[in-house]
Amino acid sequence: MARNPFIAGNWKMNMTVPEGTALVTALIEEKDDITPVEVGVCPPATALYAIGKLLQEKGSAIKLGAQDVFGDGTGAFTGMLSIPMLVDCGCQYVILGHSERRGRFGTTPDWLTSPLQALFADSNESVNLKASIVMRSPLTPIICVGETIDERKAGKTDDVVRSQVEAALQGLDKGRLGEVVLAYEPVWAIGTGETCDSAEAQRVCQLIRNTVAAIDTAAAGAMRIQYGGSVKADNAEELLGQPDIDGALVGGASLKAADFAAIVRAAKVTAG
Ligand code: PGA
Repeated sequence: MARNPFIAGNWKMNMTVPEGTALVTALIEEKDDITPVEVGVCPPATALYAIGKLLQEKGSAIKLGAQDVFGDGTGAFTGMLSIPMLVDCGCQYVILGHSERRGRFGTTPDWLTSPLQALFADSNESVNLKASIVMRSPLTPIICVGETIDERKAGKTDDVVRSQVEAALQGLDKGRLGEVVLAYEPVWAIGTGETCDSAEAQRVCQLIRNTVAAIDTAAAGAMRIQYGGSVKADNAEELLGQPDIDGALVGGASLKAADFAAIVRAAKVTAG
């Protein structure tokens, strides 16, 4: 089954509104025909509304995503964002369970003290809960999974990834399961410049697809599986050329229009 590649930029805690506006304006100005590649940007919460409005005003096909969500409805949850708030900003996607929110960093930045890290602590259970509410909304989740370096060294990669996928998808509506985007992001490759080699990334992405197939075969055929972890213009084509890698979740290289656009072009080349 043909799956349209999906390249999403995760800006993390970067970009003020003017900076993000300049970045997206530059991306829109890259006038190449990128069909059939789908492109998304995931700004920080403070820039979602402005970037959503800009994309709408320019009639751009670039999709808007948020980096996390707390819940549905309204309530006394200081500092948190709800699904209706994200929809209101024009979001179509939301990242869930990024390793930086699962509270299981490979290396902890100096400024991030452990009590603060614990507050982030998304678990397999909370990711599943968030996925189930997102799937009942107009948003589509991009669910991140991936092993730490210690888990890889202990030979636990397959078990960790399989159990994260099974837990995240547990009980989701099978009718929409194929719309979910899964991102395989080995924690040791995120922001380190160390990329998982393409054969190993393909092997794990295939394992992810097989895990989904055990739940629902049609969903496994339709589901886009991204690779994330130090994706750059010079390694994108090789990674995206793998049969079970249908896109990329890009951190650092999504912050410069030329770098991100080059990754999008690589996705177009590999899509044929
Ligand atoms: P990176 O981040 O591209 O900077 O490694 C990827 C991610 O965390 O999604």
